[in-house]
Amino acid sequence: MDTPEETVEQTAVEQAKGVRKIAVIGAGNIGEALIAGLIDADVDPKTITATNRSAQHSDELAARYQVHTETDNREAVQEAEAVFLCVKPAQIGEVLEEIGEVVEGNDVATVLVSMAAGVTLSAMEAAVPTAGAPLVRVMPNTPMLVGKGVFAVSWGRYVTEEQRRVVRCLLASAGEVVEVAEAKMDAVTAISGSGPAYYFLFTEALIDAGVSLGLSRDLATQLATSTAEGAGVMLSGPVSPAQLRAAVSSPAGTTVRAIRELEESGLRGAVYRATEACAARSAELGL
Ligand SMILES: NC(=O)c1ccc[n+]([C@@H]2O[C@H](COP(=O)([O-])OP(=O)(O)OC[C@H]3O[C@@H](n4cnc5c(N)ncnc54)[C@H](OP(=O)(O)O)[C@@H]3O)[C@@H](O)[C@H]2O)c1
Repeated sequence: MDTPEETVEQTAVEQAKGVRKIAVIGAGNIGEALIAGLIDADVDPKTITATNRSAQHSDELAARYQVHTETDNREAVQEAEAVFLCVKPAQIGEVLEEIGEVVEGNDVATVLVSMAAGVTLSAMEAAVPTAGAPLVRVMPNTPMLVGKGVFAVSWGRYVTEEQRRVVRCLLASAGEVVEVAEAKMDAVTAISGSGPAYYFLFTEALIDAGVSLGLSRDLATQLATSTAEGAGVMLSGPVSPAQLRAAVSSPAGTTVRAIRELEESGLRGAVYRATEACAARSAELGL
């Protein structure tokens, strides 16, 4: 029998499948991950139109996902219920200017969802040619590629309840959705937006350390990546990270000896500094 959480997820996916047109503007890493997540959740590829500048990249996307592709953003957003802006932060303004009038003229109420780091709702409001556009700011992360993303969402002032439902449903098909005050977005970027890279870096270091201890690179890679996967699943349960770590740290044992080295080498301080630098950079991008 399904758990209540699974039922909520299934309902969200069913509702996402009911959206007639979704545009993904700038289908690079994040845009493609969104497309992959939506399709994996059984959203019909024919309802998705993806754009980027390179025709070759468009052809590859069409072949890989059977989505409709375009190089013309204005064409892509016509009568789209949801438009996901997945271009780099510096390009969000020009894309909003480019598509604003078409969106305004649509018969359907189009919601514009930016996935860009740092770009504020007020900067987006200033970039759209007409006032009153429904805008959403989202901080995604790349595990959305495997349906395990986390999306922090801040709603603009003109977004209707129905549009919130549509955006929540679409994002829920590729991960977890959390709603946050926009003032928290730089901190969110530092934790979940950039977070996967920290785990990848740690795993990379663990592989090299295994090689340094005499393991083959293949074996070290298998051990480190399987451990990351298993630890990830355990972290998604109800037990806190601190309790999980304590449970594998026997008195005077091997793990606690390693943990002490990590602490004395400044791991915790490095995490504080890294996330502060990331949040500061996110704030800079928003200026
Ligand atoms: N990567 C992450 O982990 C991550 C995490 C959180 C948030 N984000 C945010 O996600 C956004 C996208 O990042 P990304 O890593 O996916 O970048 P990316 O791989 O460079 O993708 C950007 C895409 O936009 C296309 N593009 C550029 N200008 C365009 C235009 N005027 N019209 C249509 N398409 C255009 C590019 O196409 P061409 O190659 O053809 O130029 C490319 O496919 C950024 O705003 C970033 O802040 C990224």
